[in-house]
Amino acid sequence: MDRPAWAPPEVDLDRPSPARIYDYMLGGLHNFAVDRQMAEQVIAVAPEVRLAAHANRGFLRRAVEHLAGAGVRQFLDLGSGIPTVGNVHEAAHRVAPDARVVYVDVDPVAVAHSRAIVAEEEQVTVIQADIRDIDRVLDAPELHAQLDLKEPVAVLLVGVLHFIPDSDAPAAMVARLVDTIAPGSYLAISQVTTPPQTLTPEQQAAAERYTKANPVAMRTRDEIAGFFAGLEMIDPGLVDPARWRAEDDEVGGMVSSFAGVARKP
Ligand SMILES: C[S@@+](CC[C@H](N)C(=O)[O-])C[C@H]1O[C@@H](n2cnc3c(N)ncnc32)[C@H](O)[C@@H]1O
Repeated sequence: MDRPAWAPPEVDLDRPSPARIYDYMLGGLHNFAVDRQMAEQVIAVAPEVRLAAHANRGFLRRAVEHLAGAGVRQFLDLGSGIPTVGNVHEAAHRVAPDARVVYVDVDPVAVAHSRAIVAEEEQVTVIQADIRDIDRVLDAPELHAQLDLKEPVAVLLVGVLHFIPDSDAPAAMVARLVDTIAPGSYLAISQVTTPPQTLTPEQQAAAERYTKANPVAMRTRDEIAGFFAGLEMIDPGLVDPARWRAEDDEVGGMVSSFAGVARKP
């Protein structure tokens, strides 16, 4: 296929990426044929994944609005993705126009598109980095030009930790983050969990094709709760993202992930 103008030259058009598959599931336009094909294979056997993507995005928005309402003025969004349908700086600015936001993603399309969207926004910075090297992120001069880590910050790890296998020590990465942020800061996490029901052979095959291209570390509720070690969970705790401070009767499907927000005392 022809390379669209928004796709940086280093992007491999033949390899599906989690950022672009997720963009497609949300109805976004920044994806390639290979991403759409992979997404459709999954949707064909598990149509609820689309709802799950929307539920995750809804959790992200409500968490940001809640935290901005609680007085947080700095947001560090790790694994921020392609800003498809509503994004963190818009949600934060609706409540607190003075909020400052740093987006971090490893995917070149997510970064290029985020940069294009926030080009005019002085209070928003986009950094391309792999969060597994969290010290590099925390030491980045661009981050310190936007955020004062001596003041409370909301760190968002929404829909990203399942892309970091245990062999890459995500718990140690999160602990390092928690150690660095000031008291009064918050940590928001959503992460895919082990499916409660047995997969059909077709679902199993689609899951294997997806995870072959993009390995996914499914975690139990207890394992996900472990990322919040040393923090105080705020209400309603670790729940289905669709049910986290839901504003209407947003329907949760089968519980395919857990979401929660906690405060550093
Ligand atoms: C499913 S999207 C979630 C986007 C957004 N946080 C949301 O919830 O709407 C996951 C994002 O994490 C990014 N990602 C995966 N592994 C990463 C890593 N090691 N470092 C930085 N970003 C990563 C992907 O590129 C993708 O954009």
